[in-house]
Amino acid sequence: MILITGSASGIGEFLFQKFKDAGEDVIGTWHNRPKMEGVRIDVTDEEEVENLAAKYKVDEIIHCAGITKNALIHNLDSKDWQKVLETNLQSSFLISKYFLPYMQENNYGRIIFISSIVPQVGVPGTSPYSASKAALWGLAKTIAHENAKKNVTCNCLNLGYFDIGMIKEVPEKFLSQIVEKIPMRKLGDPENIYNAIKFIIKSDYLTGTCIDINGGLA
Ligand SMILES: NC(=O)c1ccc[n+]([C@@H]2O[C@H](COP(=O)([O-])OP(=O)(O)OC[C@H]3O[C@@H](n4cnc5c(N)ncnc54)[C@H](OP(=O)(O)O)[C@@H]3O)[C@@H](O)[C@H]2O)c1
Repeated sequence: MILITGSASGIGEFLFQKFKDAGEDVIGTWHNRPKMEGVRIDVTDEEEVENLAAKYKVDEIIHCAGITKNALIHNLDSKDWQKVLETNLQSSFLISKYFLPYMQENNYGRIIFISSIVPQVGVPGTSPYSASKAALWGLAKTIAHENAKKNVTCNCLNLGYFDIGMIKEVPEKFLSQIVEKIPMRKLGDPENIYNAIKFIIKSDYLTGTCIDINGGLA
């Protein structure tokens, strides 16, 4: 069974539909935006994550849930810093902690974190987002080493700018400036994310690393 967090919108919703259409046993999670299918969960709530892991035997996790709060660091509210770190990083720890035991027992597992190009290139106003996404690289590396003998892999996708999800909140003016900097001069098609995830799932020798999908930007 594949678990996709944050599947009520954007990339998570796209992936949920793709895996479902492919006939996979997939479960999605939603948070504030209700979804017809799937379970409601706040990925920052330890008890909820623990209960979810107790209920479902999950072989592959695609952890899409994430947020950003944009402000220059000297203007950034500490609560916003904390919220982004909790949602993007703490949740990744909780999900790994509670879903790993079944994978270890079953001698198979795939954990995929959705990271970003932002910490690779540096983008003003994104400090908690950037810090949390960079931390996923270290978390994935550690999980990979700790679980390699159990055939459990853990990797990140470092996504550039895709034509889906949170990018829709970027004003048109900034968006065209971003696109001008992308060597391929276009936003990414989420199909690329789906293909990379299928590759990660199939591979038994790819672990503790990241795949960059960014149109050549970094
Ligand atoms: N779109 C891009 O170009 C791009 C580029 C690089 C990386 N990413 C990463 O890709 C992932 C998906 O982003 P997206 O673009 O698809 O944005 P999105 O549409 O905003 O999706 C994020 C999802 O996360 C859920 N979520 C947020 N806080 C949560 C919580 N505490 N518990 C459970 N779920 C929670 C949201 O649900 P609610 O709204 O209901 O809270 C939402 O469905 C994110 O990790 C993002 O950082 C996206």
